[in-house]
Amino acid sequence: MIVGIPKEIKNNENRVAITPAGVKSFVNQKHTVFIQKGAGLGSGFSDEEYQIAGAELLDTIEEVYAIAEMICKVKEPIKEEYDLIKENQLIFTYFHFASSRALTEAMIAKKAICLAYETVESDDRSLPLLTPMSEVAGRMAIQEGAKYLGKPTGGRGILLGGVAGVKPANVLILGGGVVGTEAAKMAAGLGANVTIMDISLKRLRYLSDVLPANVDTVASNPYLIEEAIKTSDLIIGAVLIPGAKAPHLITRDMLKLMRKGTVLVDVAVDQGGCIETCKPTTHEDPIYIIDDVVHYCVANMPGAVPYTSTMALTNATLPYALQLANKGWRVACAENEELRKGLNIVVGKVVYKGVAEAFDLPLVELF
Ligand SMILES: NC(=O)c1ccc[n+]([C@@H]2O[C@H](COP(=O)([O-])OP(=O)(O)OC[C@H]3O[C@@H](n4cnc5c(N)ncnc54)[C@H](O)[C@@H]3O)[C@@H](O)[C@H]2O)c1
Repeated sequence: MIVGIPKEIKNNENRVAITPAGVKSFVNQKHTVFIQKGAGLGSGFSDEEYQIAGAELLDTIEEVYAIAEMICKVKEPIKEEYDLIKENQLIFTYFHFASSRALTEAMIAKKAICLAYETVESDDRSLPLLTPMSEVAGRMAIQEGAKYLGKPTGGRGILLGGVAGVKPANVLILGGGVVGTEAAKMAAGLGANVTIMDISLKRLRYLSDVLPANVDTVASNPYLIEEAIKTSDLIIGAVLIPGAKAPHLITRDMLKLMRKGTVLVDVAVDQGGCIETCKPTTHEDPIYIIDDVVHYCVANMPGAVPYTSTMALTNATLPYALQLANKGWRVACAENEELRKGLNIVVGKVVYKGVAEAFDLPLVELF
């Protein structure tokens, strides 16, 4: 198969969909890899390293899309990329369709095969291609939140771990999945008082067993969330309903209940956010303030640490990308249920329930 790797053009996105080691795996299995010049520079990989691994370099993004049967990328295509996509071209990347009608309509119109990293799902319902980025984003959420709690950026002016004789900050984490767990570990490690909420009691039981003593687990419901936000310094939004828009657990009215300078980091922004006042921001301009509450809603948090993120992502995506290249998407998806669940839009038809429901579109059964 002819595999194309374009350079990511979303603001401050420095990750790349394949490492030189990944190129070598494709080439060893008799595939041809075209990569746009400079695509790996942001993650620390030179064009020469890709060439040595067996990739062919192309000057422009247009050339990559024009030649490839399968495009492997990282972020969802942005407007400038829509017209580069061809009918029947397999696009293997994050899409997060449920949060963008424009992208959904564009991909339907382009008649591409859209296989979304975030909905590839294992038997145990875990999301193997979301997990590595969630691990990065969860850990980063605390780093970033701690920074914006500083007074100069509008925060409460509180040090996450406190010092001897001064209480640490209160950190509230909504959602105890991968993001929430990694955030809890980091916040607890820095000495904060941490509360983690989830609707799954089974998950809370597990978290209560494995997390340190400065993490409390609490069943998530609107009443207890409203109580908890009144005394929280840093709130992390980390809920997920796979393939669907995130529920608004914190409404605009609830901001008034918070203390001045509270920091909200809505990691779930890529699924629409679990805080009503969340709107996507970028690494260049990551925060905004509403009602004296600092909002950090960067949609591609792992993009700021591209070395770690590219390695973590490609460790997870490569085995699936190789299956797609070796067998073609139809056979690979027919044989592997995990991959099949990644199909969202196929030649103009929505085949993923969460996307159909989000935009009231007909759902087509493929297999
Ligand atoms: N901004 C970024 O750069 C970035 C990076 C990675 C992941 N994410 C996003 O972070 C979010 C979380 O990802 P994850 O991998 O941790 O998902 P996950 O599936 O591992 O965890 C989600 C958790 O939310 C819980 N949940 C659902 N409804 C809830 C409610 N009402 N109250 C409390 N908990 C609830 C679920 O039970 C689950 O445990 C996703 O939207 C994901 O796309 C964003």
